[in-house]
Amino acid sequence: MDEQRTIKIFDTTLRDGEQSPGASMNIDEKLRIAHQLERLNVDVIEAGFPIASDGDFEAVKKVAQAVKGPQIAGLCRANDKDIDRAWEALKYAGERGRIHTFIATSDIHMQHKLKMSDEQVLETAVRAVKRAKGYTDNVEFSAEDAVRTRLPFLARVVEAVIEAGATTVNIPDTVGYTIPAEFFEIISYLRTNVANIDKAVISVHCHNDLGLAVANSLAALQAGAGQVECTINGIGERAGNCSLEELVMTLRTRQDVLSFTTNVVTEHIYAASKLLSTITGIMVQPNKAVVGANAFAHEAGIHQHGVIMEKSTYEIMTPESIGLHQNKLVLGKHSGRHAFTQRLEELGYDLNKEDTDRAFVRFKTLADQKKEMFDEDLDAIVADEIIRIPERFKLLQMSVSSGSFAAPTATIEMEVNGKVKKGALIGVGPVDAAFKTIKKLTDSKASLLAFNVGGITGGTDAQGECTVRLEENGREAIGQGAHPDIIVASAKAYINALNKLILVMERKRVHL
Ligand code: KIV
Ligand code: ZN
Repeated sequence: MDEQRTIKIFDTTLRDGEQSPGASMNIDEKLRIAHQLERLNVDVIEAGFPIASDGDFEAVKKVAQAVKGPQIAGLCRANDKDIDRAWEALKYAGERGRIHTFIATSDIHMQHKLKMSDEQVLETAVRAVKRAKGYTDNVEFSAEDAVRTRLPFLARVVEAVIEAGATTVNIPDTVGYTIPAEFFEIISYLRTNVANIDKAVISVHCHNDLGLAVANSLAALQAGAGQVECTINGIGERAGNCSLEELVMTLRTRQDVLSFTTNVVTEHIYAASKLLSTITGIMVQPNKAVVGANAFAHEAGIHQHGVIMEKSTYEIMTPESIGLHQNKLVLGKHSGRHAFTQRLEELGYDLNKEDTDRAFVRFKTLADQKKEMFDEDLDAIVADEIIRIPERFKLLQMSVSSGSFAAPTATIEMEVNGKVKKGALIGVGPVDAAFKTIKKLTDSKASLLAFNVGGITGGTDAQGECTVRLEENGREAIGQGAHPDIIVASAKAYINALNKLILVMERKRVHL
């Protein structure tokens, strides 16, 4: 077997991932994710697209200042203004700052979007890399839509940008179009036809439109690529990106046939996945590979029997290898602050004293209502109590009456822009009544796109966990709420989505 190669993991959850509808994150939330990526020990964190908005700029700057270890990349188009702005944010990472500049190279993009010729694109790419090089040696160039680019032209561009100083050349499948055998050939072609290819790391960035992003990335590694761009839970534009957890666990699990390793500490994967869903409100599907709720569940009797006798009969990797300690009973109402803080740390939360105090008060209240507290309860407490955005709207009190006889009515008291408001409305059911009342009290024009309810753990005393997706003027936000009373959890999720929607609507963005 070949000698093992260590593959660089470039995480773009905070940039491409944030481009998923409804996944918009504020600076605080991005910092939390960045610290979790630091624990995972990814090689590069792409923290954002600094010119896109002031918020993006600040987020990249804060991540560059706060995160130690991984390199910090910022995306920019191939022009001076974008590159200068990117470095202004990235310079705080010093030598770990990476400028990631890109321009499209396919005929479709050059003719219809850029309206530029081959020579103009080539010249612009080289100029951009040289400009970036004036700031740092760590420059990545991406040939957007590389997969649909004429190969001889792609090879010319790659050779020219390496000559100009690019140390990483990224070959994106921007539209998720390729298949593994074809992508293998593309990377092999570049390795054979680009004279200076050994002077740069070949990176790949696969979108998942046909569900092949992980398979295509693996094929690229087998053809000689040295870096994979991916996201936690596979979030990203449209159908998303190559999923970090799927790629990394494939490399770990199939070392017998894949001679690659990564620096990722896989035991932090589950916490990263949870944290991201908690922050964005985008839940992973139950059958999602590696981190889905059913990924380690054995339903069929014959499977259960096998696993009891010998785990490896039906498990190819252990839940512990991704840091999943299923439904572990962790704490009870007599647990002290020390045990509480320690467990939060084990789950990957690094809270300051004030946040820990708030979370502990909430823990004690909940522990009085619920006999047993699980890790999932602690996740929900952190999500609900700590990972909060500035709140224009706050729920103060509510009560509902419903049943097979009474007209479902919600009475709600809220703080709206600092003023206390109260109202009551009837609905089709108690959730409908609550949402109508909140909508009226906040004067909201948002439409409800989706509403989901789940129990955080088993049992009738479990906390309810709700997500609400709202839309207004083409912008979306996802909110969530947790509470032992499912109607209160729904109302909290609705209000959380309204607060997030305000932030999303206020944010002016330059689009890619
Ligand atoms: O999908 C893509 O091509 C990208 C580039 C900007 C790297 O996200
Ligand atoms: Zn992309």
